Amino acid sequence: MASTLSCGSKNVNYETFVPRREVHPQVTHSMPAEKIEIFKSLEWWAEKNILTLLKPVETCWQAQDFLPDPASDGFYEQVRELRERAKEIPDDYLVALVGDMITEEALPTYQTMINTADGVRDETGASLTSWAIWTRAWTAEENRHGDLLNKYLYLTGRVDMRQIEKTIQYLIGSGMDPRTENSPYLGFIYTSFQERATFISHGNTARLAKQHGDINLAKICGTIASDEKRHATAYTKVIEKLFEIDPDETVKAFAEMMRKKITMPAHLMYDGRDDNLFDHFSAVAQRLGVYTANDYADIVDFLVETWKVKELTGISAEGRKAQDFVCGLPARVRKLEERAQATAKEAPNIPFTWIFDRHVKL
Ligand SMILES: [Fe+2]
Ligand SMILES: [Fe+2]
Repeated sequence: MASTLSCGSKNVNYETFVPRREVHPQVTHSMPAEKIEIFKSLEWWAEKNILTLLKPVETCWQAQDFLPDPASDGFYEQVRELRERAKEIPDDYLVALVGDMITEEALPTYQTMINTADGVRDETGASLTSWAIWTRAWTAEENRHGDLLNKYLYLTGRVDMRQIEKTIQYLIGSGMDPRTENSPYLGFIYTSFQERATFISHGNTARLAKQHGDINLAKICGTIASDEKRHATAYTKVIEKLFEIDPDETVKAFAEMMRKKITMPAHLMYDGRDDNLFDHFSAVAQRLGVYTANDYADIVDFLVETWKVKELTGISAEGRKAQDFVCGLPARVRKLEERAQATAKEAPNIPFTWIFDRHVKL
């Protein structure tokens, strides 16, 4: 069952800043209170195993490393070269890249989402728990992704920046509805999946940029992809640890997130015109092979494998049901996808405001 965002006041037309979007009934704090202790007891473990996956700021790349230097005499020439290379990029690729960039730019929502999780949230904004340090440093690393893609796309002159900026503003206003219920079990399963999905998607935009002759853009997307991979490793390790100490709850949480299906972080996106903008962007990404239903199945496979779900023993009857469900899921997703492809109709061409209403095939 779905409900719509509502803030109750009759005096404010909130749809002007938070567009009306279907969200699920909002379930909160479903994790039993005693489980919070598990995360407190993992503080030291997280310091040794998770914080070590962050990179020191001094050795991190920055957006400026990949962009024309505005303080140099060669700035205009570098911009001209960038624009020359970007001329060859097809519109459908631009739509996929803009969608990825907008997703990255809604970062305040993702930091908020992680900070809804009981037992691991940053209680003060400057908390010194390992969980809070991770979340702030993760956010700080992620913040470079949107910055870099945004500046690059701005300089190409190929996209309607004002429309893109509006989409970002609407998206941050809308938030997201990942259905993780303040539970770090559900939340970290979501982020394990999601960071791997972005690793795959940025990796594919890198591959395609190379094919389109923009080596610099390929480097940009590839560099972002490698950050995502490191982040995916961290979140996947947290769940691996939870499987070790609390396998029954963890396998049930895994199945629960899979039953709900992982909704992409930017699923509430809106540009002020297209009510199905996210579906349209996803269709383009799927057709180009940037992020597909098969990638979804591959991620589930990878997680089942990494977390050794098939080998789990000594779990409850409910846990075994969850185990069967997730182990059989990749095959079911692939079969459904095959059927969908077989019955797919010729896709229409539709205009995207992000590229000045030029038409792109879905
Ligand atoms: Fe990112
Ligand atoms: Fe990420």
